[in-house]
Amino acid sequence: MITILSEADAAITLLSDPLTRRVLSSNSNLRMIANCAVGYNNIDIDAARKLGITVTNTPGVLTEATADLTMALILATTRRLVEGDNEVRHTGRCIWEPLHLLGTSLQGKRLGIIGMGRIGTAVARRAHTFGVEVVGVRSGESLDELLKTSDFISIHVPLTAETRHLIDQAALAKMKRGAYLFNTARGPIVDEDALCDALESGHLAGAGLDVYENEPDVNPRLLKMSNVVLAPHIGSATFETRSAMARIAATDVLRFLRGEKPLHVVT
Ligand code: DGY
Repeated sequence: MITILSEADAAITLLSDPLTRRVLSSNSNLRMIANCAVGYNNIDIDAARKLGITVTNTPGVLTEATADLTMALILATTRRLVEGDNEVRHTGRCIWEPLHLLGTSLQGKRLGIIGMGRIGTAVARRAHTFGVEVVGVRSGESLDELLKTSDFISIHVPLTAETRHLIDQAALAKMKRGAYLFNTARGPIVDEDALCDALESGHLAGAGLDVYENEPDVNPRLLKMSNVVLAPHIGSATFETRSAMARIAATDVLRFLRGEKPLHVVT
């Protein structure tokens, strides 16, 4: 990163680029970072602020795509879609049996949404149309109640010092036996080893994940489980959304270089 940024006045970065204090202070000409993501936990914001580096992100345009992917994970996990797909491919057959690949219905169940911001609210809208009762928390206040009463829990908070391992062993133990966990936010919000324990013991029925604690690595224990659906951080991966994100990042860099205020300033 230091070499790549050495001659830059501004840079468009990805969520996988670590913009640490050391990287940010390595080039005194660097005045702007346009992170091509809504999340910016890859950037030391405090250091950027102190160094006078403007940071922008790409909010808004990925809300619906990420909510779609969350619903896709909820449906794929509860209806065992990946297991079914694997079976058809491997056997070359489709046999109807009364008790084969039974899953869990959404109708009448309760979905707890941790983080009722833009994406959480968009997931809630979708879940309502499936007959799901939705409860949400913005802060930690009613988190315990949500954990204890929800059949499905979906995470939509940013990764911060406060939310790192928000879903740890203690939180997982509070979840209903047979509940499902979904995470399309940031991996380190969940203690992945504790999640594996909860899945292996049967306390949780399944999980749908788009993000992982140590990306790009995925916990090998998860790879062995048939009751989890694992996506490769594709929440915003539609042609429309990724184009919109790129356009926002590029537009804000151009505005900044022209001396105008960027539209999506984080610092
Ligand atoms: C984001 O923007 O933060 C997503 O995780 C990737 O699109």
